[in-house]
Amino acid sequence: MYLKENKKNVWKIYRKSFVSYWKNYIMGQDALTIPYKNYELKKLPCDTFIYPDLLHRFKPDCIIEIGTDSGGSAVFLSDQFDGKLVTIDINKPKQETLNDFKKRDIVFVHSDATLKKTMEEAKSHCFGNTFIIDDGSHRTTHVYESFKLFSPLVKPGGFYIIEDGMSGALLNCWRLNPMHMYKKFYQDRNTFQPNYAIDKILKEYPDFTLFEEYDKYMFSTTYRGILRKKEDK
Ligand SMILES: C[S@@+](CC[C@H](N)C(=O)[O-])C[C@H]1O[C@@H](n2cnc3c(N)ncnc32)[C@H](O)[C@@H]1O
Repeated sequence: MYLKENKKNVWKIYRKSFVSYWKNYIMGQDALTIPYKNYELKKLPCDTFIYPDLLHRFKPDCIIEIGTDSGGSAVFLSDQFDGKLVTIDINKPKQETLNDFKKRDIVFVHSDATLKKTMEEAKSHCFGNTFIIDDGSHRTTHVYESFKLFSPLVKPGGFYIIEDGMSGALLNCWRLNPMHMYKKFYQDRNTFQPNYAIDKILKEYPDFTLFEEYDKYMFSTTYRGILRKKEDK
């Protein structure tokens, strides 16, 4: 009955929500945050099982996250593995969050992730198999600069994840018309394109390859952004 009544509208409603989902995500609107233990994750739904699965399978000793924001993703990630979580942000989260980080043994580094001294400080807290997750400014140049600095910390078989390549790619997609109304927010469309940085990295760093196993789930900030360092032969 429910479906029958709505038959004509199902596609219309679905399409509208799909487009507004991505539009809101790209615009950074709060509607899309995911609640987690009194925090808000700026993630997409599939991230909440992709990250736990990847961390369970590949067991890092340490994760360096670029982009703490309100702290939700740091708390979420640290709950998913038995190791050290170091999170970096150019802006400080609330004191309450920093106190919670201390209880959870999460290290916060208040600095710019495109600087060498930031990498050195983060590195000083890390050991063993270190993974990097870049959810920082998403500017093409920043993504590339941070990769150059932090990728040497990744061991063969380890991961360097660059989030939000999908949102940059969608900005280029003329078929998703409603988003184009928001083009003015991205006067220089090349600025927020992590996907351009990923392309450049894949060309220049042949020891990293795209790990595509999770791409079939689509609704993930990691879509086309999980880079794996080749294992030693
Ligand atoms: C998308 S938010 C991070 C969201 C968070 N990881 C989550 O999933 O809930 C991006 C964050 O990157 C930070 N950021 C921007 N540029 C940065 C830089 N150069 N170095 C370090 N952090 C930066 C911003 O202050 C912001 O808090």
